[in-house]
Amino acid sequence: MRDLVKTYPAPRAKRLRRSAGRRTGRRSGAATPAATAGSDAPEAPPGPVRACDGVGLDIHAGEIFGLLGPNGAGKSTLVRQLTGLLRPDSGGIELFGHDLVRRPELAARLLAYLGQESTALDDLTVALAAETTARLRGLAAPAARAERDAVLDELGLAPLADRPLRRLSGGERRLACVAAALVGERPLLVLDEPTTAMDPVARRAVWAAIDRRRAERGATVLLVTHNVIEAETVLDRVAVLDRGRVIACDSPTGLKALVGGEVRVDLVWRDEPPLDVPKIAELARTARRTGRRWTLRLPEEAARAAVAAVTGGPAFAELDDFTLTTPSLEDVYLALGGRDEGLVKA
Ligand SMILES: Nc1ncnc2c1ncn2[C@@H]1O[C@H](COP(=O)(O)OP(=O)(O)OP(=O)(O)O)[C@@H](O)[C@H]1O
Ligand SMILES: [Mg+2]
Repeated sequence: MRDLVKTYPAPRAKRLRRSAGRRTGRRSGAATPAATAGSDAPEAPPGPVRACDGVGLDIHAGEIFGLLGPNGAGKSTLVRQLTGLLRPDSGGIELFGHDLVRRPELAARLLAYLGQESTALDDLTVALAAETTARLRGLAAPAARAERDAVLDELGLAPLADRPLRRLSGGERRLACVAAALVGERPLLVLDEPTTAMDPVARRAVWAAIDRRRAERGATVLLVTHNVIEAETVLDRVAVLDRGRVIACDSPTGLKALVGGEVRVDLVWRDEPPLDVPKIAELARTARRTGRRWTLRLPEEAARAAVAAVTGGPAFAELDDFTLTTPSLEDVYLALGGRDEGLVKA
């Protein structure tokens, strides 16, 4: 995708044309409450939202590509353009050699899409949701049933096969939607927060299923997720999106190199930290405190010295726990200037 721009129109009260010459479409239903219609108010009402602001990304065939970023960064907007559900204002999308902006109807044949919120299947049973999706994707009845059984087994959904989706818990329903998205071989899977609301066992089953589609069938996967630390195990490359722009794009290892040799040291004190120990008093100056926990981000050498100071001297008796961790993708995101929340929901 190249230079993708997508602007949502301003809420109904007043439309600001900040971006000259850009067509904003005519949707109004989803508008958020606007500021007062009094047109000369000194505070401008909210204008159009530039949800994608010149996004260019190349996703290679056969890779699992992650899209990270805080709430409202534009991730869903970006993937919805790729699925043909939303038309970009400008820019290009090429999918397996096809121009998707000119022919959005092709998307349905080339990719499987799991939306962030999916209610279309709610009246069906889990088994029927998977089977119907497989049939819609062109499989003959016996093949569709075989795929249905395989995917329900793979995701541990067999015991729920005959329950309607609307009678499932949030996590179960989400898992059933993932199952439906995975049936019928599509060369590209676009999954918008597939593991939302799932327990750890279900989440692992999903990560494994995604990895298997790539390893065994050569599928390409575009994955939006807030579960960064878990997703890291399956992602080949990652783009970090913030306010509609790509602020970084690389392999998880490459991105982590951005935060250099910094290491995170977590110290948990039993009670009061021993500030009378000079080395501890020194650490206290840079530690971020949450209850009894101190978190420090230090270059490797300094981290080693800090650990030696807390474990080797009198402070050790006061220590409940300590951990030393190399940077995670979440640290990268924070170091890139992302806001301090939103990346991990669960
Ligand atoms: N239908 C819409 N009409 C107007 N503005 C919208 C609409 N959908 C999204 N937006 C705005 O566009 C921006 C990007 O939204 P988007 O849903 O793409 O974010 P996201 O990165 O998927 O966030 P989240 O992590 O919460 O799912 C936000 O500022 C949002 O408020
Ligand atoms: Mg979203």
